[in-house]
Amino acid sequence: MKLALKLLALLLVSVVMMSCRGQKTDKPPIRHHFNMNFQERFNAQQENPFFEDGMAMRMPVEGTVARGNLRHDTVLFEGVDDTGNYVDEIPFDLTRDFLYRGKERYDIYCQMCHGGTGDGQGVIMTGGYGYVPAPTFHSESSRNMPEGEIYSAIANGIRNMPAYASQIKVEDRWAIVAYVRALQASQNVREIEMDRYDVDLAELRDIYEAEQARLEALAATRAAGASEEVSVERGEQQFVRNACQACHSVDGRDGVGPTLAGLYGSERNFTDGTSAIADEDYLIESILYPSAKVVEGYEDAMQPYDYLSESEIQSLVEFIRSLSDE
Ligand code: HEC
Ligand code: HEC
Repeated sequence: MKLALKLLALLLVSVVMMSCRGQKTDKPPIRHHFNMNFQERFNAQQENPFFEDGMAMRMPVEGTVARGNLRHDTVLFEGVDDTGNYVDEIPFDLTRDFLYRGKERYDIYCQMCHGGTGDGQGVIMTGGYGYVPAPTFHSESSRNMPEGEIYSAIANGIRNMPAYASQIKVEDRWAIVAYVRALQASQNVREIEMDRYDVDLAELRDIYEAEQARLEALAATRAAGASEEVSVERGEQQFVRNACQACHSVDGRDGVGPTLAGLYGSERNFTDGTSAIADEDYLIESILYPSAKVVEGYEDAMQPYDYLSESEIQSLVEFIRSLSDE
């Protein structure tokens, strides 16, 4: 009997507790610590009549630097020397730990675009999502890039690549630079130097050939899946899918690259002093080998789009041509 009563009481309590949940009320919520939910404070950019200038956000006192913010070492913080040139050095001891730290950070922040080996074939790039292609680090120009410039690419971003300063600390940025250098060295060893290493060259060659075959198969599947239709509409699709608009406008505005409006049939001047009329062959060459002729006033910043199929390139040409028809 006693037990039954106790059980009944327990049941009642739980029913009462459950009935408090899941019901709507129009009354304001009960706040046990009102001043914790709503503190007196100023939001960013708000006015504050307390100060003469009326701003809640205060400027640093003139002539002072907050503790830890004195960034007088331009080599360390900006990758440049006193004259503003990129430095050819990494201002840290190149220990094994430092390099592994760089590898870890690289794999977190860079690998998805620039690829695990630095070949620019990260998962985001090979998935056909329409990102601006990330360059390989194994080109002559990347190998010749001073350390300071790679550091600056991380700290400040470079052209279409955003800055990673808010996510990667100064020391880690340099660790990544060191690791990029290690990746470059790993992919650029002359065969006679390989004797120094305890590796099986034949096995490496097999791995390399298997990888090439995999990439070719991938390209073939992509080509087979693509329709062979050539049209302005398809060209416009390709223009968007390959993120050409990141650098080229179609309405006359200037960008990282020249506008494509009115390009077809116009005369182009190149940095080497030569010139040409922008006909079909020129457009195809510009897409496949952008470095062959660099338009005056622009950087050689475009990556080759040599993975596009013939009909995709023809469609792009048709699309660009359509931007010149009145
Ligand atoms: C979201 C993709 C993405 C990520 C992540 C990314 N990059 Fe890039 N990176 C790019 C693209 C795209 C470019 C080319 C930008 C352009 O030319 O407009 C580029 C260019 C560069 C360049 C210039 C190379 C050259 O030859 O001009 C360097 C150096 C570089 N990235 C380093 C890094 C490092 C180091 C990291 C990691 C901290 C990183 N990137 C992360 C997409 C990315
Ligand atoms: C990272 C920026 C960037 C991206 C993305 C890019 N381009 Fe370019 N492109 C440039 C720059 C810079 C130039 C001028 C320098 C040169 O001639 O290489 C250029 C030049 C060209 C030219 C010659 C323009 C002229 O005025 O003579 C054509 C055509 C062109 N791009 C087409 C394309 C197409 C199509 C795509 C997409 C599949 C594309 N570009 C993606 C940067 C880019």
